[in-house]
Amino acid sequence: MVRRVAVVGAGSSGLACIKICVDEGLEPVCFESGDDIGGLWRFKEAPEPQRASIYRSLVVNTSKEMMCFSDFPMPEDYPNYMLHSQLLQYLSLYSEHFHLLRYINFQTTVRSVTQRPDFSLSGQWDVVIMNRDGEEERLVFDAVLVCSGLYTNPTLPLSGFPGYETFTGRCFHSWEYKDAEALRGKRVVVVGMGNSGGDIAVDISRSAEKTFLSTREGAWVVGRMSTSGLPLDMMNISRRINILKLLLPQTLINWVAERAVNKKYDHRLYGLKPRHRILDRGILINDDLPGQILRGALVLKPNLKGFVETGVVFEDGTVEENIDAVVFCTGYNGTFPFLPPALSEGTHGELTLYKRLFPPSLQHPTLAIMASFRTSGPIMPTVEMQARWAVKVFSGSRHLPSQEKMLEVLESDRQMSMKSYPCPLLAALQVDYVTYLDFMAKEVGVQPNLLALLLRDPVLWAKVVFGPFTPYQFRLTGPGQWAGARHAILTQWKRVAQPFKTRASPGIQVFRLDQSDTNMRCSKMP
Ligand SMILES: Cc1cc2nc3c(=O)[nH]c(=O)nc-3n(C[C@H](O)[C@H](O)[C@H](O)COP(=O)(O)OP(=O)(O)OC[C@H]3O[C@@H](n4cnc5c(N)ncnc54)[C@H](O)[C@@H]3O)c2cc1C
Ligand SMILES: *[C@@H]1O[C@H](CO)[C@@H](O)[C@H](O)[C@H]1NC(C)=O
Ligand SMILES: *[C@@H]1O[C@H](CO)[C@@H](O)[C@H](O)[C@H]1NC(C)=O
Ligand SMILES: *[C@@H]1O[C@H](CO)[C@@H](O)[C@H](O)[C@H]1NC(C)=O
Repeated sequence: MVRRVAVVGAGSSGLACIKICVDEGLEPVCFESGDDIGGLWRFKEAPEPQRASIYRSLVVNTSKEMMCFSDFPMPEDYPNYMLHSQLLQYLSLYSEHFHLLRYINFQTTVRSVTQRPDFSLSGQWDVVIMNRDGEEERLVFDAVLVCSGLYTNPTLPLSGFPGYETFTGRCFHSWEYKDAEALRGKRVVVVGMGNSGGDIAVDISRSAEKTFLSTREGAWVVGRMSTSGLPLDMMNISRRINILKLLLPQTLINWVAERAVNKKYDHRLYGLKPRHRILDRGILINDDLPGQILRGALVLKPNLKGFVETGVVFEDGTVEENIDAVVFCTGYNGTFPFLPPALSEGTHGELTLYKRLFPPSLQHPTLAIMASFRTSGPIMPTVEMQARWAVKVFSGSRHLPSQEKMLEVLESDRQMSMKSYPCPLLAALQVDYVTYLDFMAKEVGVQPNLLALLLRDPVLWAKVVFGPFTPYQFRLTGPGQWAGARHAILTQWKRVAQPFKTRASPGIQVFRLDQSDTNMRCSKMP
């Protein structure tokens, strides 16, 4: 019988896990090495070893209705895309509302998690912690939810670039970047065009003399604003679009999407165009990058090749002299130093996890690794669903397939994403947002039955199928049902509109927020 569950970390994932354990009648005990909740969303003036670190200007890239937990909508006056500090505030509201703080041991670091000697019988774990007095304690748990985050271990590939030892400028990882204060008037190179690279390059280009953004692959750059200024993810992540993706040829959808994006700024002209098609991989969400290129404040360059004494060399042979600093936005190496290394290490150093959650090698499925995936949607509701599934598996009310079957599924999932991601490490991490959530929801027994819904509640059905893929729909039926779910879905566009209502504009609205694209364009201002 699983009763006591250790939760490692009290970031957004840890908080969701605690809440879901309590819902399931389990006893969570959470260990957090820091002195407060929130994980990476708690901004610090200086980076701390072994912790994620964010920059001052970080604004979320997923909108509030899409990224909230499924039974706790964000306050209606919150902006649709908020600054990091406001997301932290939301996490505090969540913890207060569900009384989560009482389960958290702060300033307590998990040192090791190992299978007990009688694991084959008990499925239990030894968890060694270091408490706030610096003493080690060994505790026994029936199950473990790992929520320690993926962004603690920066990858700084300096030795791959000849000449860096004699380079006179400063080189550092985006993990150390807080703001552009020290780079005012300087000449700076930013290496890597992921979401952080794009943000940081724009940030620096506002005050530096010149900023170069070096990218091997390029990227499809899309702003947070979709048609009529509505949140991109609410317009582009829906069941309707996922069905279209299944029905229509991939090339056609890519062509349509790329055309729309190129109409705003031609990716070839701007030097952004990648080799891959737009839907093959994640897009780069950034509102200001093309504008900074247009103004000449930001200059795109190919991959970095090496350094000269006071400058850098790019792969096309061009040299930029008088470079004061190089910021490496080259990502992180997700590691779990407290777990047994053999637990789930794959052949390419990737974490081998069944459905990005369970190590397939365990005799008893009593450990799950949360948030170890990448997707085109928000992370928080995905992790919440992972937790709902994991606790059902822990408590024995849901079962995993045999080890062979899990490895088979793992391999075919990996082959599938290898088509878009030639790198096995990245391919292993990728999941399709809608498909993944639906899969887990089905396991948990909370997937909305669309046919029954159509007959019983056609208005709600239309919102669920045609509207944005908001997480509330996984609280309509089944275990963990929430009485407020229907109302939350019916009022989601109202909460989108609320933060704009700061000045009464003359006349009627240009569009109704629940209508489709075409209707919006047709309706007129009086
Ligand atoms: C720059 C950046 C921007 C992002 N923007 C978005 C976004 O807009 N939308 C989105 O959906 N996702 C975004 N993400 C992804 C983000 O990682 C997830 O949304 C989510 O917040 C991760 O939370 P977490 O709890 O899994 O990890 P973290 O927030 O990193 O929390 C982990 C916690 O575990 C603790 N911990 C670690 N090791 C131990 C240990 N051994 N013992 C005890 N405690 C430990 C840490 O102190 C920390 O508090 C972004 C990520 C980054 C890096
Ligand atoms: C948001 O940014 C984070 C951090 O760079 C990234 O991992 C994630 O994929 C982004 N989300 C989307 C939907 O682009
Ligand atoms: C988002 O959807 C709109 C239409 O709803 C489409 O024009 C656009 O290309 C899509 N963008 C992406 C990145 O999928
Ligand atoms: C990530 O870390 C692991 C273990 O520390 C190491 O084996 C691996 O080579 C690292 N990968 C990268 C890309 O640095």
